Amino acid sequence: MRCALVSTRTDLRKLLGSEIARIAPSVEVVDHCATGLDADVRMALAWHPPADAFERYPELQAVCSTGAGVDSFVACPSLKPGIDVVRVVDPEQARMMAGFVAWHVISHQRGFAAYQAQQRAQVWRTIPQRSAQSVPVGILGFGAMGQCVAQHLGALGFPVMAWSRTAKQAPPSVRTFHGSDGLVTMLVETEVLVNLLPLTAETVGIIDGRVFACMRRGGYLIHVGRGEHMVEDDLLPALDSGQLAGAALDVFNMEPLPPSHPFWRHPNIVVTPHDACDASPGAVASTLLAIANALQSGKRPPHVVDRERGY
Ligand code: NDP
Ligand code: OXD
Repeated sequence: MRCALVSTRTDLRKLLGSEIARIAPSVEVVDHCATGLDADVRMALAWHPPADAFERYPELQAVCSTGAGVDSFVACPSLKPGIDVVRVVDPEQARMMAGFVAWHVISHQRGFAAYQAQQRAQVWRTIPQRSAQSVPVGILGFGAMGQCVAQHLGALGFPVMAWSRTAKQAPPSVRTFHGSDGLVTMLVETEVLVNLLPLTAETVGIIDGRVFACMRRGGYLIHVGRGEHMVEDDLLPALDSGQLAGAALDVFNMEPLPPSHPFWRHPNIVVTPHDACDASPGAVASTLLAIANALQSGKRPPHVVDRERGY
């Protein structure tokens, strides 16, 4: 089964190639065909595909994202209706996300920035310790990532709440909410807000000054969904007024974040370069194998995205 490697992060390309050869030898990977047509390609692997990327493949049946988020596929004009968009669902990636989020939640809970400042000034002074139990965490999105994050934070003793589009069953340690009323109910109890939503028409711009104003004063934002979820202009006023004590930002409206952007220099913002967690190359290769097997036997591949819904 021929698969076009349309656009992937260059640092992952070699590793992906060798994992696909090891795990999915029936998948023949070819480089993206920049001109002309390739009618033998039935599947494609991509990340942030260019607008015209899929025009070259008249027999394309499925595309696979190398990551969890598929917003750039749903928005891609050359992806004809009827072509399945498949996303990688990788438990190891979700555990990496849980570790990343826990790092920032604990950093806020334990006042890590204050220890760093003290070290720079060679100050030996204890800082009042807050229990995890006193720091409620609200998670936007209770899917593959949100559930794993909730489980890990719960195990560390944080009260965990999660918000989703539809009502959800959850373990007793997680209180769940849905719909717009549910969002406000969760926010007023939230000290640390974790964004793990997919980017869709409904979620674009969802995190704004009103959301920050609902949260507990001195709250903290961990923003790992997509940059376009947040009205970026609303963040600095919330930080400067003390409504938010800080923010960990992994995703931005413009990536890479331009050097002139004030987020780089704000003392209470931690910037990471969209690097919270990657799907492992092995999981990507296993997903390609599952797609190839499904197409060969005339079945639907697993983890097909609902393109209407956007995730
Ligand atoms: P899933 O599709 O498994 O889960 C999405 C969750 O969001 C579901 O609970 C869904 O609700 C909820 N949701 C969707 N739309 C709405 C809405 N309008 N209102 C309320 N809730 C909504 O996605 P994942 O958990 O795998 O990933 C989530 C996102 O995390 C990705 O799309 C990506 O943007 C981001 N991500 C970022 C990474 C990084 O490195 N920074 C790495 C990996 C992911 P319901 O269950 O009711 O459908
Ligand atoms: C993402 C990913 O969706 O890296 O951001 O998987």
